[in-house]
Amino acid sequence: MDTSQVRLGWHDSGTYNKNIEEWPKRGGANGSLRFEIELKHAANAGLVNALKLLEPIKEKYPSVTYADLFQLAGATAIEEAGGPKIPMKYGRVDVSKPEECPEEGRLPDAGPPSPADHLWEVFYRMGLNDKEIVALSGAHTLGRSRPERSGWGKPETKYTKEGPGAPGGQSWTMQWLKFDNSYFKDVKEWKDEDLLVLPTDGVLFEDPSFKVYAEKYAEDQEAFFKDYAEAHA
Ligand code: HEM
Repeated sequence: MDTSQVRLGWHDSGTYNKNIEEWPKRGGANGSLRFEIELKHAANAGLVNALKLLEPIKEKYPSVTYADLFQLAGATAIEEAGGPKIPMKYGRVDVSKPEECPEEGRLPDAGPPSPADHLWEVFYRMGLNDKEIVALSGAHTLGRSRPERSGWGKPETKYTKEGPGAPGGQSWTMQWLKFDNSYFKDVKEWKDEDLLVLPTDGVLFEDPSFKVYAEKYAEDQEAFFKDYAEAHA
């Protein structure tokens, strides 16, 4: 199980713009993230390693599209980590050339001037609502942030002395290989300096329209799993 697969799937799909009719200009889960030009977008720093892990599988099963493979890997990582079964469908079509990649800037920033306004702007453009924004943010229950990639997080903490993959980085939760609702508990408490809270994580307990869901998910893991699976799908 590799937590970077969840981010890879999210960053291939998170370029979606519901206001653009034309494919592939509208972006979304279309395998465009395999091209260097998109991997070089600042938001995608480090994802080349996640892609490399999937290349042998793509070679073995060439008829599976990158778009499907990214989503399969992300959903499988969540299930393997103890998260909900996500009702996935397959049959996504790949873009065929780098010219079809979306322009830079469609994915969210972690530290914008007004985090709530930024999340609304970016996620509403994808067709997602406040409940879905909060549920999906709960994916940060997995994985780590690395200063040498995104610029966020500590180089190492007491929770990240070992891999899988290169050790180091800062996680949002103590058990960052386990998918559960600890992200919401930890962001709410915000008292362990070794755990990460990005501005866009913290705002989930500040803005009233996010807070109702964040509080609920901190109390009720079953509700989180149900809403997460729906939002992810
Ligand atoms: C709400 C806006 C979001 C922001 C601003 C954001 C930002 C970030 C940042 C800065 C990192 C650290 C990257 C690095 O340094 O390697 C990260 C990692 C990660 N993000 Fe997000 N993220 C957001 C939403 C999401 C969503 C919706 C998902 C999935 C559904 C997700 C899944 C992940 C995962 C799994 C990691 C850890 C990757 C690893 O362990 O290699 N994020 N995110």
